[in-house]
Amino acid sequence: MSEFFTKDNVNIPSIGLGTWDLRGKKGEDVIQVALDVGYRHIDTAQMYDNEKEVGNAISSSKIEREKLFITTKIYTLVIKNEGIKDSFEKSLINLKTDYVDLLLIHFPAFTTNLNDMLKILFELKENNKAKNIGISNFNHNLVNDCIRLGYKDIFCNQVEYHPYLEQKELIRVLKESNILPVAYSPLAKGKLLNDKVILKIAEKYEKQPAQIVLRWLNQQGWIAIPKSANEIRMKQNINIFNFTISDEDMILLHSLARNYRAVPCALGTSHQIDLPSRHGVSGLELI
Ligand code: A2P
Repeated sequence: MSEFFTKDNVNIPSIGLGTWDLRGKKGEDVIQVALDVGYRHIDTAQMYDNEKEVGNAISSSKIEREKLFITTKIYTLVIKNEGIKDSFEKSLINLKTDYVDLLLIHFPAFTTNLNDMLKILFELKENNKAKNIGISNFNHNLVNDCIRLGYKDIFCNQVEYHPYLEQKELIRVLKESNILPVAYSPLAKGKLLNDKVILKIAEKYEKQPAQIVLRWLNQQGWIAIPKSANEIRMKQNINIFNFTISDEDMILLHSLARNYRAVPCALGTSHQIDLPSRHGVSGLELI
């Protein structure tokens, strides 16, 4: 499919570097290597405690700011609505930039209600400090809630997605609402890479298992942010644009779904469960 996906004239590189445990000098060096080998989309978060490392790597890379796509996320499990703006200013200082390309609500947890939180985020967009606003870990009910509240300009929803985790209902709602899907832990933290079916398909296409999984996501229009701290594997993950998986093999990969989550802690907040739910005072409530 594509090296970029586009929404409302905004281009986002379809592969980004996930940085969830890249910290300290070592983490900074890894991010630097990613920029050197061609990554232009870097995904960080206040919660990852590595915005400084991302900022340092970007500034020493000398890559023009406009050529980069930087995402960060407000740590909404900890930051209350009234603290969002200040915490974001800190993020910009750490990232050594005047703006981020994408600012996400990390979890649908909020002080008062969903509307108040979205309002604060979209005010940051008006100030041009966040070029796009998105959500993360929102299930299909919460996505619908955002739309019902009148927020039609949500750039993306970042959730776990890979061949072991079907997200059928969520995918339907995202398509309907023109919200870009972004997959975190697209390799299920590496668990998928020993799967016999995936290994067989990899052999057939003469590709690495990770490339098969990432290409499968790409052909469905998903942006993916695999994490790797290794230059060779980073290169593999970004080099998925010179082959196509057949319809038959796409279906075969879909058939591996088994409701497996590599990041079950996101379920600790219950926000991803696709069960009847509504947003209450402090976040999602199952009903
Ligand atoms: P490493 O950092 O040593 O490369 P996910 O993005 O789904 O969370 O997966 C991340 C895990 O998958 C990390 O342990 C990472 O290890 C590993 N990984 C990333 N890319 C590849 C690859 N191309 N081949 C094998 N393992 C990979």
